[in-house]
Amino acid sequence: MHSILVLNGPNLNLLGSREPGIYGANSLDEIRELCVERASKLGVGIEFRQTNHEGELLELIHGARGRYDGIVLNAAALTHTSVALLDALLAVEIPTIEVHLSNIHKREDYRAKSFVSPAASGVVFGFGATGYLLALEGLASILDAAGG
Ligand code: DQA
Repeated sequence: MHSILVLNGPNLNLLGSREPGIYGANSLDEIRELCVERASKLGVGIEFRQTNHEGELLELIHGARGRYDGIVLNAAALTHTSVALLDALLAVEIPTIEVHLSNIHKREDYRAKSFVSPAASGVVFGFGATGYLLALEGLASILDAAGG
């Protein structure tokens, strides 16, 4: 069974009440439940985490090596600022799907730049909570194709 780590960055703990017109009405807990349900349909194991701290996000990525076959990552604002995040993803060499609830290319210019994308196998944005499920589907098929 493939195991997937779903990682969420700063401020995503506020989903549901945080700018619902942009990020939707689902809380992060509801998104976690949707992911758990989809993972069980796909026959993959998942762990779902959120942190507001860049260093903790880096440590979760470092710790994923040898424990998880893939990562689904919504790095939130760190997407647009963190070279350290890119370096961590390049270092662990774990297939990663980048997710954003909103369409980051339809918003402020600074959100169009992603330090995660160069390390990502795929990117999903603009589908709200459904994007997490699309990312899980895509990652599961990448892992199946790799035969691991
Ligand atoms: C986000 C988009 C980022 O620009 C923003 O800083 C977030 C959430 C999204 O899911 O749409 O916090 O990653």
